[in-house]
Amino acid sequence: MANNTLFPQGFVWGAATAAYQIEGAWNLDGKGESIWDAFSHTPGKVANGDTADVSCDHYHRFAEDIALMRQMGLKAYRFSISWPRVLPTGRGPVNWVGLDFYDRLVDTLLVAGIEPYITLYHWDLPQVFQDIGGWENREVASYFADYASVLVNRLGDRVRFWITLNEPWVVAFLGYRTGEHAPGITDEKRALQVAHNLLVAHGLAAQALRTHMPGAQVGIALNLWPTESVSNASEDIAAAELAWQKDCGWFLSPLLKASYPSDVWEKYGELVPDVAPGDLALISQRLDFLGINYYSRTVMSAQGTVSPVAGSQYTEMGWEVQAPALRRLLVRLKKDYQAIPLYITENGCAFKDEMSQDGQVHDQKRIDFLQQHLSQARLAIGDGVDLRGFFVWSLMDNFEWAHGFNKRFGLVYVDYPTQKRIVKDSGKWYAQVIKQNGVMSNCKPAISGV
Ligand code: FCB
Repeated sequence: MANNTLFPQGFVWGAATAAYQIEGAWNLDGKGESIWDAFSHTPGKVANGDTADVSCDHYHRFAEDIALMRQMGLKAYRFSISWPRVLPTGRGPVNWVGLDFYDRLVDTLLVAGIEPYITLYHWDLPQVFQDIGGWENREVASYFADYASVLVNRLGDRVRFWITLNEPWVVAFLGYRTGEHAPGITDEKRALQVAHNLLVAHGLAAQALRTHMPGAQVGIALNLWPTESVSNASEDIAAAELAWQKDCGWFLSPLLKASYPSDVWEKYGELVPDVAPGDLALISQRLDFLGINYYSRTVMSAQGTVSPVAGSQYTEMGWEVQAPALRRLLVRLKKDYQAIPLYITENGCAFKDEMSQDGQVHDQKRIDFLQQHLSQARLAIGDGVDLRGFFVWSLMDNFEWAHGFNKRFGLVYVDYPTQKRIVKDSGKWYAQVIKQNGVMSNCKPAISGV
């Protein structure tokens, strides 16, 4: 195989999870309630009435889960911290038992030779803050910085990589515009203020992290779901471009260009958020890296969204499988924004995985999906993109937000009634990719019989 299927030396091979989706132990050892606890406990909000009260019970099984990561040869693990587990009332007294859990998690990862990448906020806001307005209340952004300080003071001697927020677009727009996510509000103006306050929170947390840990590598993970034009016609291109600016540019521009995209700002009219003097400087302070969560794209014409795209395959989420758009996205980022190191902080897919008679999970579609995306990522590196790592979403099957347990994204299958873990074929395949430092056409499982 040609060398261009190999990745640069030191490329970071990882997998990702989030606290609410895997930990369980929702009310144990002093943990406070989060908005996702409250939301999933509200009838009708999550498919099948599922909650993540227990989920993968990772809180009790983290050592077993890290052993699986080690078996796969993961170099890095991206996980999030539950704010209300550490600070049950969002601020004030630390719940030491909760903080100790993350301390042990980090130590166990390091012993296994796996580098921790911490996400501070993956959607589980302390419920007490929702009661005072949640992210609409700017004070919460300051409390977020205090929370970041607590964590970096305890873990900063061992953790180098810090991701402030996961997907502020989702927090703001699914939480406050469509209402599909906690806290379930449907008000676009409020959503836009939340989006802005989240970026302020990012800026304040970045400052706090650096104050306590000058060498911290600080980033943010954005869901970059590009909109591409169906044709070369100028009206179609213009419609796609506006949608790109509305979804991706709305976060990329303030972070990397210290301004909101002007066309979209104008279109929003009275809906635009209050921006205080100094906010954009705060938001656009240096980022050490940008995390990209890439799943799919939207195709657009001047008439609207084109769906389904003829000839395309779709995942169980109804998302088009479109690996070449990942390469185009990476190249566009390099071209349009300041050059900073990039990581794919999430990429993966849900398919109907089942345990076969042989006790294994033969998820060939996931292997194909990841193989295609890794190949495109490798091509982007060849195009000069500074891509440093790739994290599969997800390490293991888990609670997929409003879809509950119905969607399986893992490299590891979780049999929820027994909590048994089975490394899927994709997990074995990924182990081989990591071992070879690249996608080879002859990738055979590096581990078997797990
Ligand atoms: C992303 C989320 C992650 C997971 C995947 C499928 O938007 O960050 O928690 O739900 O989608």
